[in-house]
Amino acid sequence: MLQRILSLEEYRTAYKNSLEHSEHFWADVADNFLWKKKWDKVFSGGFEKADYKWYEGGKLNITENCIDRHLKLRGNKTAIIWEPNNPTEKNRIISYNELHAEVCRLSNALEKLGVQKGDTVCIYMPMIPELTYAMLACARIGAIHSIVFGGFSAQSIADRIQDAECKWMITADGCYRGEKQLHLKKIVDEALENCPSIQKSIVFNRSDFPVSMKDGRDVWAYELLKDCSTEHVSKEMDAEDPLFILYTSGSTGKPKGVLHTTAGYMVFAAYTFLNVFQYKPEQIYWCTADIGWITGHSYIVYGPLLNGATTTMYEGVPQFPDWGRWWNVIDKYKVNIFYTAPTAIRSLEAQGLKYLEGKNLSSLRVLGSVGEPINEEAWEWYNKNIGKGKCPIVDTWWQTETGGILISPLAGITPLKPSYATLPLPGVEPILVDANGIEIQELIAEGNLCIRKSWPGQARTVYKDHERFIQTYFKTYPGKYFTGDGCRRDENGFYRITGRTDDVIKVSGHRIGTAEVENAINEDPSVVESAVVGYSHEIKGQAIMAFVILKSEAALKIKLNSESEFLIQKEIAGTVSRIIGPIAKPEKIFFVSGLPKTRSGKIMRRILRKIAEEEFDKVGDISTLLNPEVVEEIKNLVSK
Ligand code: WT7
Repeated sequence: MLQRILSLEEYRTAYKNSLEHSEHFWADVADNFLWKKKWDKVFSGGFEKADYKWYEGGKLNITENCIDRHLKLRGNKTAIIWEPNNPTEKNRIISYNELHAEVCRLSNALEKLGVQKGDTVCIYMPMIPELTYAMLACARIGAIHSIVFGGFSAQSIADRIQDAECKWMITADGCYRGEKQLHLKKIVDEALENCPSIQKSIVFNRSDFPVSMKDGRDVWAYELLKDCSTEHVSKEMDAEDPLFILYTSGSTGKPKGVLHTTAGYMVFAAYTFLNVFQYKPEQIYWCTADIGWITGHSYIVYGPLLNGATTTMYEGVPQFPDWGRWWNVIDKYKVNIFYTAPTAIRSLEAQGLKYLEGKNLSSLRVLGSVGEPINEEAWEWYNKNIGKGKCPIVDTWWQTETGGILISPLAGITPLKPSYATLPLPGVEPILVDANGIEIQELIAEGNLCIRKSWPGQARTVYKDHERFIQTYFKTYPGKYFTGDGCRRDENGFYRITGRTDDVIKVSGHRIGTAEVENAINEDPSVVESAVVGYSHEIKGQAIMAFVILKSEAALKIKLNSESEFLIQKEIAGTVSRIIGPIAKPEKIFFVSGLPKTRSGKIMRRILRKIAEEEFDKVGDISTLLNPEVVEEIKNLVSK
């Protein structure tokens, strides 16, 4: 098994070693896994063509490392604790033995159906153990999973299926989230109307909602699984065979299918989980993310299971039946390590302390934060009221593209500083560059965050669009990986991530591209054109503000009747929700007569961003605009 870093001194040695003898370092780490055949070469390639490879020639199956290897010593240990949405419903405790049986059964079922190595499988599932079985079964038979978060719309699912040319769909009839019922199968049915590549859709039973099964396409999972064996010989995969695709938003265009491969991702997810959280055998770990995001992939499923940990999955929302639910779950299972997002911490803080009354929380040892910068106030509240001043908080900075955590304290090992992600993990070399792409040598500095060299968990490409991959990450600052984040470095060399510098917004930690939202708004029949920016929001971190030019008819309606302003705003929000999903709905929509544009017709989002933040004096020079007069109009609207 992997060994933890146990002291600050060990961290320093490991870090130095990882940069000076990179291949040796990552070979030592990789030696702790099960390989069907060891690699020929630890690393090759580089950033120029983005052709880097890790552990080339190695043969393995990641699920043998997640499951099979633990059976002998800890087959009866709990792998997954599943807590249902409704606290009165029975929970499920799944041992490594059971996990093995279920994943094998489903692997056999998928193979029986005809799923083959290299096929892409779209998964749209609620937070139930079967979601984990589904992703692991794909990995076991060599199929590439592409999980779509349960909050995305039918159209978003269809876009992702078409882009990845998925042949198979795995979903559930429906699920419960708080008071809400989500009819997943219905959403999938709508999506599949435009997805001829899908051969079969496998439906798990989670709810008692009525569903219609399409002949020849839809199959109930329980029927498929009926006669399948609980033993399965895993497929031998190459180190660089694709493991999964996960779509994420960028500055421009449609979401990108970020591709991760097998061995490097495995080694990195496992190594970072163990060291950042300092997981000890028998501890109970809970990450509140949804598996539909990278946090769930790496730190609910792969990272914990690779370490033989007990990982908790919660189906519901933090406020159901009341805002004390998470604390109840922590007490119920005596959770030791708790990992969540700043937006959730701020929502919980806003409820006051009454939901903490009578909660024990004394099992907690380590707290984590992820997804967006954590402000000092939220950090202090988390530290004082949840950690009781005794639990280190690991502020983990990373991205869908990085596969695992790149900058973070190691709990209890390296020093903390509120709102700082602090120090890089071994193998990770952060650098700051100025606007001209020149590396900033000073210790205390602020700039664009880049990474100098590849690390094993790095994404390998954008699915079927390697050129876009190179353009997005390696062209802005040639020779370096550009993260899209701004960053500060202090006198100790600690890093503080200050937020995106591109047209990506982090709304409640969810990553949303302004272009995507604009495209959705522009589909609305009342709309001519729109511009979208992010602005600071007390709970969500950032929220979406949209500036919209209406068609004359709609504009006239508003003039005649103030009520219709609200109705059109609602209609536009509905359009965004239908096209992307509720998470992308603008918080505020302003109707304007024009958008600030350069003479070449480019929308000046920089100006809109300043206005949205109500930093009116920082709008800057507008004299070169095509239509400077709209700036005043927009300022007036926003400041009202
Ligand atoms: C972006 C990546 C990493 C898994 C979840 C998000 C922001 C993430 C932090 C942090 C400040 C953070 C960055 C990054 N971000 N973690 N600890 N401090 N910012 O993955 O959806 O790919 O988003 O989230 O802006 O670029 P993602």
